[in-house]
Amino acid sequence: MNIIKEAAQQVMKKAVELAPDAWMPGGKSDPLLEHREGYIGMPVSRLDGADKVQGRAPFAAEFPLEGLAYAALVYSTVPKGRIATLDTTAAESAPGVVLVMTHKNAPTMKPMPLFLTAEKAAAGEGLPVFQDDRVHYNGQPVALVLAETQEQADHAKSLIRVTWLTEAAVTSLDAAKARGSAPGAFMGEPLKKEVGDAERALADALYKVDATYTTPRYNHNAIELHAATVAWEGDTLRIHDATQAVAHTAWSMAQVFGLKEEQVHVSSPFVGGGFGGKAMWRHQVLAAAASKLAGRPVRIMLSREGVYRVVGGRTLTEQRVAIGADGDGNFDAIIHTGVVPMAAHNNFPEPFILATKCLYGAASFKLDVETVRMDGLANTFMRAPGEAVGTFALECAVDELAALMERDPVELRITNEPAKDPIEGTPFSSRHIVEAWRMGAERFGWLERQPKPRMRREGEWLVGMGCATATYPYHRMPGGAARITLTKEGRARVEFAAHEMGMGTSTTHAMVAAERLGLPLENVSVAYGDSTLPGVILAGGSQQTASVGHAIIEAQRALVHELLTLAGKESPLHGLKPEQVAAHNSGLCKADEPGRFASYATLLEQAGRDAVSAEGSAPPPLEYMHWSMHSFGAIFCEARVNVVTGEPRVTRLLGAFDCGRVINPKTATSQFRGGMIMGMGMALMEETQFDERNGRIMNPSLAEYHVPVHLDVPEIDIMWTDIPDPHAPVGARGIGEIGITGTSAAVANAIYNACGVRVRDLPITLDKLGGFDDA
Ligand code: MOS
Repeated sequence: MNIIKEAAQQVMKKAVELAPDAWMPGGKSDPLLEHREGYIGMPVSRLDGADKVQGRAPFAAEFPLEGLAYAALVYSTVPKGRIATLDTTAAESAPGVVLVMTHKNAPTMKPMPLFLTAEKAAAGEGLPVFQDDRVHYNGQPVALVLAETQEQADHAKSLIRVTWLTEAAVTSLDAAKARGSAPGAFMGEPLKKEVGDAERALADALYKVDATYTTPRYNHNAIELHAATVAWEGDTLRIHDATQAVAHTAWSMAQVFGLKEEQVHVSSPFVGGGFGGKAMWRHQVLAAAASKLAGRPVRIMLSREGVYRVVGGRTLTEQRVAIGADGDGNFDAIIHTGVVPMAAHNNFPEPFILATKCLYGAASFKLDVETVRMDGLANTFMRAPGEAVGTFALECAVDELAALMERDPVELRITNEPAKDPIEGTPFSSRHIVEAWRMGAERFGWLERQPKPRMRREGEWLVGMGCATATYPYHRMPGGAARITLTKEGRARVEFAAHEMGMGTSTTHAMVAAERLGLPLENVSVAYGDSTLPGVILAGGSQQTASVGHAIIEAQRALVHELLTLAGKESPLHGLKPEQVAAHNSGLCKADEPGRFASYATLLEQAGRDAVSAEGSAPPPLEYMHWSMHSFGAIFCEARVNVVTGEPRVTRLLGAFDCGRVINPKTATSQFRGGMIMGMGMALMEETQFDERNGRIMNPSLAEYHVPVHLDVPEIDIMWTDIPDPHAPVGARGIGEIGITGTSAAVANAIYNACGVRVRDLPITLDKLGGFDDA
């Protein structure tokens, strides 16, 4: 580990030489960073853990409101057309029914603001809700029953009869492709990039692989079902939501109902898993509309089937990856192209080429995501959108090339390590993927791997090892803000509109704030998950830690400024400038003269104040302009395949990550592991089964949509370089999504190494492996 530490010091030194304040472009030099109390890097248990296990943490479907009515939904059973007849009479007279809402009696509402179409748009689809008789996809809600209890609502909805005027729909991928494709664009960037003539370079290459990889549709399966408890309080719409985007949802709901943004108050203090799916879908709109119509508070909690009908998942992909290499293994060409379907009413092309843009150096590139349209529920963000499925294809192809060239797959990857961003030409902010490969390979025992398949057998099992690269970009959203209130008792309350989905955010930010303020952790409380708090940072893109972290830094600076203006002649801090001051030991001191110290309590007492409050906003994320910023990882897998049944099992997994500074090893380990388990699920079992005859999801239940359970998951070893990124706030890049990337390829590559069968179509189920003649 000493090599790593040395490398870290060198990186920091170099960064300081390049620009003294380069750890945060545009920022001032930061003596406060030098005077840390030492929380960052400590394995702190979740501060909300006790509340959660004791049932004191209220989730969206648990807020008790007087006079609550409960909602149940009826879904369309045809992919496209109109509602012909809708008979609600039996439901209306069923016990406990408050009202039945359909397009005939719903209030007038504007369409939901579709993600990426406006700064704070939050909806996964841009359709009007209950405004007409049109059916846009199979499973679309067409009626809502409100009753005194959930059971009464569920019963009454079963009495509703609907008939349909069906129209021709495009529900098969082949039919969609036959209608032609369109270029994909993601966040305003075309998903197309060419450097040189890659097809030509491939044709001329000494060694080449060229194959098609397919991944199925996936659905988010957070433990907590999507839910909202909604009430109209005068002109204010109050929503207790389960969301990754409180501020965005508040703004979007205001658009739908024609309200001012501040008339919508969304809070979401606890979220039981999100993965990209806990955004705004039509259930929040329906609950608010029904509440308006009924004149009483409403709770909607989707059933598991309801989540599959209302909340979009990840779309399927068909990807071609071709790599050409010279005799030394240097890549001459990387081609990564393919097609992804989208719904007619969304704008999210799964951007599977993103990882390919930064992982390897090559003389030429051809990258292209084409989109086709199908009639179905809108697809959306799901953990590492793009990279999760893109690294499956790319990292299998690298393994195939290594096998062809009889090269070690780790060494082949290191051979093609780029000195700078291979497409943009910008320097990497911090890239220590080779260290991650080396430390991971050593701990995993990679050298024991057999170079060819079927060389290791234990009883009925063929055993193999595989590896793959993980990567996910560093992001920081604009709009980060935080407020710190310091009391004369020396306690701080830190407030920001961010989200705790179970990943440990609230704990991590309390640690960052305590360290910045020089306070004991127990004297810092955080408030988050509420649209009335400062900032507009959503939980997504693995960027909440950086975005909120930067905001906390700025708020702390503002607070220091405020405190210094309060420091009178009698104070040892009198006349000092903010940049001369460091925070520690529950107070401030002159950075280079720690004896000149005043505690917060003294400062406030002398100023005659009970509390001081300051707010700070993070500057725009200009670091992207200077640096190519990504997290990296090396994933190792040991898998075995049964020669009798073809059953694949993963027996060991290791992830060695390079994600900048790890703020809390305990919560970080859990994030890495969770991501890798999800990647294992992709590899072996997860698949949304979509009936191409009628566009209906056939397995909307955890009984039929399989995710790994405890018995499927082996020991997962996690390690990291812990080299701070000098250009990321607090030195940390994101870690929430990277674990799912690379993992499915590592599993596929291990299965190939075990049994010699190359499966390019996920999930790798036993039917794709079986039939060994040596059983
Ligand atoms: Mo994630 S797909 O950015 O919640």
